[in-house]
Amino acid sequence: MIRILVLICVNILAIGAKPTQQTPFDELVNNATKNFYGMHCVSEVIVDVSAAAGDFAYDLELCEDPYTVDDFTDILDTKDVINRITDRLLVVNELDCDNHQYLPDWNGSTIPSRECLTKFKKHLNKMNFVIEETINEILVAGESNVCALMAMGKYVIKLNNFTGLLQACAEVAEKFNK
Ligand SMILES: *[C@@H]1O[C@H](CO)[C@@H](O)[C@H](O)[C@H]1NC(C)=O
Ligand SMILES: *[C@@H]1O[C@H](CO)[C@@H](O)[C@H](O)[C@H]1NC(C)=O
Ligand SMILES: *[C@@H]1O[C@H](CO)[C@@H](O)[C@H](O)[C@H]1NC(C)=O
Repeated sequence: MIRILVLICVNILAIGAKPTQQTPFDELVNNATKNFYGMHCVSEVIVDVSAAAGDFAYDLELCEDPYTVDDFTDILDTKDVINRITDRLLVVNELDCDNHQYLPDWNGSTIPSRECLTKFKKHLNKMNFVIEETINEILVAGESNVCALMAMGKYVIKLNNFTGLLQACAEVAEKFNK
C-alpha cells in the first residue's frame, strides 16, 4: 500500500519535472482537447474510470475473504488516487476552462484557453500514470482467489481501454473542429 503510493507520488513529481517532449499519449491528449466537445468527452471517460475503480472495490468486498482483500490493498488504494484526480479534473474543466455543457449557449467548438489546458492535461497525465501503475500491479498480483481474480479481470479490461476511449474523444473533437 505504502509502496505503490510512494511510487505514484515520486513519478508524478517526475512528470512535473520532465522537460517537454511529445509522447504518443501527449499527442492523443492534444487531439482530444482541441475543443469543448473533446474535453467533455474526456471528462466522461475519466468519470467512467473512476466508476470502474469503485466497482472493483465493491466487487472485492463481495468476495468476503478478508485475506484476499488484504492481498489486493495496493490495487484497492489506487481507487482513492483515481477519485481525487477525477474530482480535480472535473473542477478544472468546469471552473478553469468554463466548459459548462448544460448551459444553453454552450458551444462545443470553443477552443479552450492555454491556461486551462495546462491544468487539464496535468491531471490527465497523472491519471494515465496511475492507470498504468494499477495495470502493472494487477498483472503481478498473486493468484489466490477466483473471485478476486474475476474482479481484477473486469477492472483491468476497463483500465486497458483508457487510451482507446481517449482516441474516441479525439475523433469527436476532430469532427467539431472549426
Ligand atoms: C492527432 O491528430 C493528427 C491530425 O488529425 C493525426 O495525424 C495524428 O495521428 C493524431 N495522433 C494521435 C496519437 O491520435
Ligand atoms: C462556436 O465556436 C466556434 C469556434 O470558436 C466558432 O467558429 C463558431 O462560430 C461558434 N458557433 C456559434 C454558434 O457561436
Ligand atoms: C473500449 O473502447 C471502445 C471505444 O474506443 C468502446 O467501443 C468499447 O466498448 C470499450 N470497451 C470496454 C470494455 O469498455
